[in-house]
Amino acid sequence: MVSKGGEIFVIGAGSMSEAFIRGITKGGVVPPEQIRVLNKSRRDKLEQLTAGYGVRQATSFSDIQHADIVALAVKPADVSQALSSALPFLDGQLLISFAAGVGLAQLERDSEGKAAAIRTMPNLPVSVSAGTTAVAFSEDVGREERTVVLRLLEQLGDAVEMPEDMMDAVTALSGSGPGFLCYMLEAIEDAAVSVGFTPELARRMLLTTLTGTVRTLDEWELSPRELRLRVMSPGGTTAAGVDVLEKNQVRQSIGKAILAAAQRSEELGRTYAKR
Ligand SMILES: NC(=O)c1ccc[n+]([C@@H]2O[C@H](COP(=O)([O-])OP(=O)(O)OC[C@H]3O[C@@H](n4cnc5c(N)ncnc54)[C@H](OP(=O)(O)O)[C@@H]3O)[C@@H](O)[C@H]2O)c1
Repeated sequence: MVSKGGEIFVIGAGSMSEAFIRGITKGGVVPPEQIRVLNKSRRDKLEQLTAGYGVRQATSFSDIQHADIVALAVKPADVSQALSSALPFLDGQLLISFAAGVGLAQLERDSEGKAAAIRTMPNLPVSVSAGTTAVAFSEDVGREERTVVLRLLEQLGDAVEMPEDMMDAVTALSGSGPGFLCYMLEAIEDAAVSVGFTPELARRMLLTTLTGTVRTLDEWELSPRELRLRVMSPGGTTAAGVDVLEKNQVRQSIGKAILAAAQRSEELGRTYAKR
């Protein structure tokens, strides 16, 4: 990649764009004046970003000429139109797409091979810099450039390089993961209220139990199974509860839910690819 001025050009001024800009400016990794943003019509969103983070508004797509990286943060259905506006100014930049389900083949087709395509799948916690972003690179992205992109995306949480054919599985695990975990938390919260907790106290105790469990797993370097077995003494309270979960095939249901999400991701991807 030949440097064109070190700028990052962000297409889209929505939630994903804001998470990206917040992450990369927060630790001083990228000076805000090196970031230019453009959206389709809503000036208020653009002004919010420039006022909130000190980034610059792009005057037009032609500003892409000063950028080494183009970040595409538009809805999947808007990708082709956005790239057709960017096309005249693409010339070897790294094109980082956040659009769920839009494959490298489409990015390469829409950019007519004038940019090196990178497909990412971030999850919602990128909004609080605690996300997980899976990253699939096209073959023309070199090792050094991959490192630059991964370091940049690590500012939003964790970033993991993946082969593209794992993206549907990633969508099911980390993309839908917060939804699945919240479904389980909801069920525990409802049960806590039904045994006499106030909703506020139930949530407070549940959240500290959750963060405490994650921290213990991390600090003691245990697998979830190992930690569960430490908590679960034979004939004890946890064993009584887990016995009910096993009899009701909760483990199998969770497996089926992950599979269903991955299959749905594949179906949605095929729909985008046809457009
Ligand atoms: N938000 C997340 O946490 C998250 C997580 C994973 C993946 N993603 C992916 O990130 C992408 C963006 O999501 P979002 O939640 O940020 O959506 P959003 O809030 O709706 O923002 C989309 C932005 O794209 C702009 N846009 C649309 N077409 C454009 C064009 N032709 N040229 C320039 N700008 C254009 C819109 O401009 P106007 O407002 O002017 O219409 C808007 O600012 C999606 O593909 C989504 O799959 C998001």
